[in-house]
Amino acid sequence: MERIRDAILAGASGEELARLPLPEQYRAAVVLKEESSMFEGLASEDKDPRRSLHVQEVAVPELAPDEAYVAVMASAINFNTVWTSIFEPLPTFGFLERLGRESRWGARHDLAYHVVGSDASGVVLRVGSAVRRWKPGDRVVIHCNYVDDQDPSAHDDSMLASNQRIWGFESNFGGLAELTLVKANQLMPKPTHLSWEEAAVNALCNSTAYRMLVSRNGARMKQGDVVLVWGATGGLGGYAVQYVLNGGGIPVGVVSSADKVKLLHELGVERVIDRKEAGYRFWADEHTQDESEWRRLGRDVRALAGDDPDIVFEHPGRSTMGASVFVAKRGGTVVTCAATTGYMIEYDNRHLWMKLKTIKSSHFANYKEAWEANRLVDLGAIQPILSTVFPLEKVGEAAYQVHHNLHEGKIGVLCLAPSEGLGVEDPEKRARIGEDRIGVFRRHGA
Ligand SMILES: NC(=O)c1ccc[n+]([C@@H]2O[C@H](COP(=O)([O-])OP(=O)(O)OC[C@H]3O[C@@H](n4cnc5c(N)ncnc54)[C@H](OP(=O)(O)O)[C@@H]3O)[C@@H](O)[C@H]2O)c1
Repeated sequence: MERIRDAILAGASGEELARLPLPEQYRAAVVLKEESSMFEGLASEDKDPRRSLHVQEVAVPELAPDEAYVAVMASAINFNTVWTSIFEPLPTFGFLERLGRESRWGARHDLAYHVVGSDASGVVLRVGSAVRRWKPGDRVVIHCNYVDDQDPSAHDDSMLASNQRIWGFESNFGGLAELTLVKANQLMPKPTHLSWEEAAVNALCNSTAYRMLVSRNGARMKQGDVVLVWGATGGLGGYAVQYVLNGGGIPVGVVSSADKVKLLHELGVERVIDRKEAGYRFWADEHTQDESEWRRLGRDVRALAGDDPDIVFEHPGRSTMGASVFVAKRGGTVVTCAATTGYMIEYDNRHLWMKLKTIKSSHFANYKEAWEANRLVDLGAIQPILSTVFPLEKVGEAAYQVHHNLHEGKIGVLCLAPSEGLGVEDPEKRARIGEDRIGVFRRHGA
């Protein structure tokens, strides 16, 4: 992999890269099947990704006709890597076993190790015989919707495909590695003004936020909508507030520190609630919610935005869903894609049906949505929210930080890229978009 990395850094052509031999092994961040029960009996917060994530050599898998090998220059931590590394809600080896039963090609994934990671930027090294759109040398980012496009159920909205999976979570050979194996229909052009690590952090969270707010499959935000965004400087929230601002909506960001309030102001989000300072206690105890606290949040949102939220951008789950359903406007939408704090949700259904509210579910994005979201990054309309960068060897620490909410935006991981700042192809475009806009989270993280 070193020869390949050096060739990429030296600007080798696609033909030159195609001629370089592929190694038999590469370095990758893995969890091990034999360690699946290592955290049994511990509370979630005590399950430590630094113990379960290992960086080791793994074998290069065989290439299927519709796939590509990509040399990974940089990757990112997503919350799904936290889930995998703490083996919650289930060890991901069950996903790999199921994929393994599907076909000869699926069987490659069912291994005693799981290479994790669902984001990456890099360079195509080889393509399978059925790949038409991509070739060695192409600089790409990778989205994580892994679908078998020979299944008819994948041909309306591919997120409805019966065999839809998330690459690097429900499939093996993910992005936190020097090399990855992906379907050609996961590839998208790398935004030319970004470094490898800035380009690597966007696809998963950016595409998810796009579908939730902009696409016809989500809440279909319109100009003037008040949008309450939980975790507004987190991985999803940092893109969500940008979509609300771009689309002429009125974001109300919720965060948990004065520092994050400052960051949101820098992003142009004027209306911000510090939930720590406000001290909301939506749950009086483990089993009982306190409606008066939902009302207090509702009053705070009205005081800031002059109205109730047309849309609530939900992902914390159990801790906030009761409040989210309550504060949404009559006829409004709670759009949800996750449940970080617990998936057994409770809300008062009277507030939902009597006020004709909708709970809209969303999950990642189809290829078209991911492509549109990536195009907006390439146009400089959506900025990367990279705040910190770790080397691949420190992937456990990086996942630990996300697990314990110690980060802002996205944490990038350098895989083959030896240092930050490499890979910018169009410095003039970068200057046009503006270093100050591109680097808001990075400056803050530093
Ligand atoms: N379905 C999908 O396709 C999809 C895609 C991406 C992510 N997800 C899921 O979405 C969730 C969030 O992902 P992410 O990347 O945004 O994670 P993240 O970077 O950790 O951000 C989550 C934010 O949620 C806020 N938060 C945490 N606990 C909270 C609580 N009890 N009440 C209110 N806010 C709380 C935190 O902000 P403050 O502390 O500042 O309030 C944090 O910044 C994860 O569960 C992830 O697995 C799903």
